[in-house]
Amino acid sequence: MPAPQYGDYQYEIYFDALDGIAPRFPVDAATLERKAAEVLPWWVHSYVAGGCGDEGTQRANVSAFAHHGIVPRMLNGAYERDLSVHLFGMSLPSPLFMAPIGVIGLCSQDFHGDIAVAKASARTGVPMVGSVLMQDPMEDVAPHAGDTPGMFQLYVPRDRDLAASLVERAEAAGYRAIVVTVDTWTTGWRPRDLNTGNFPQLRGLVLENYFSDPTFLKRLAAPPSEDLRAAVREWIGIWANSLQWDDLPWLRSLTSLPILLKGICHPDDVRRARDVGIDGIYCSNHGGRQANGGLPALDALPGVVEAAEGMPVLFDSGVRSGSDVAKALALGATAVGVGRPYAYALAVGGADGVVSQLRAILAELDLLMAIDGFPALADLRAAGTVPVRR
Ligand code: GLV
Repeated sequence: MPAPQYGDYQYEIYFDALDGIAPRFPVDAATLERKAAEVLPWWVHSYVAGGCGDEGTQRANVSAFAHHGIVPRMLNGAYERDLSVHLFGMSLPSPLFMAPIGVIGLCSQDFHGDIAVAKASARTGVPMVGSVLMQDPMEDVAPHAGDTPGMFQLYVPRDRDLAASLVERAEAAGYRAIVVTVDTWTTGWRPRDLNTGNFPQLRGLVLENYFSDPTFLKRLAAPPSEDLRAAVREWIGIWANSLQWDDLPWLRSLTSLPILLKGICHPDDVRRARDVGIDGIYCSNHGGRQANGGLPALDALPGVVEAAEGMPVLFDSGVRSGSDVAKALALGATAVGVGRPYAYALAVGGADGVVSQLRAILAELDLLMAIDGFPALADLRAAGTVPVRR
């Protein structure tokens, strides 16, 4: 099958307009964000838009991309592009994926956002990394992704039996890799939400994977439907553990699925992860939501890629456009995750909005490769980036 030419999306938009059909959704992340702020409940918007401290790391994540430039190569036969990647046995049409967002379930008008995102994944071939924080149990979400493989993100609970149960369920539900977040065994200091006391999980939201888990339910005197407060109190006590390197052999023993560590930014941590049999690295600083005062995640990416020595490296944090994706790929990422923009797209347009935003990001990436003369991702990677001086 010929590789999809994502850039053609622009002609679809222009020809529709010629027929009097105006674009339904903005294609750029900044306009989407403004529109989402108008339609999201304030507390969901605050939770998604906010970050740690004065949000300096969050802003730096975004602006870091402006310090890298891609140098075009002309007359290079990029009339057709192939964006496909192979990752842990998955054949993916593009290197784009949807980063895990724990409150994505709340970002759609009907509060079934995980399912809407899975539907958008099915329609675009862009995998979702489903968060352990879901509004619908993972077993109800997974089938909506159709033939597009997905991954499952886990905060490793303090209760090892619960961890094992969640991993087992994810495997049975068809997720193809386990993404273990290691930078979130507690939440970071988030003034936007602290100033209003806003923590949706404490109202029992996005906890359905726990509330549907027999191991979790065994810990409760009464089911969440009868005593939500007690269930939430139990959850807050065990939802995440401060994992140590010594815990990783146990984690590894839970599944034969590939395991990735998410939140890795130091080359030594990459090497340690490899030594204990981890299959992939996910370089990220959680979109600046966890610790303020750090480096932009993009600055960590080249060192992580070098230390990974060929092990797949996923990346997120600050990605807002197709050219951002191109730069992360040029810096060595195997696959690149988009976060907040698809949450805003979901708020504005449900599954259709997410499909539109993913297609827009892919179109921009594809057209950049077309115009700059890179027929395949390997060509883009080989070219790398050069510093942009201002
Ligand atoms: C959870 O992952 C969060 O970023 O709030």
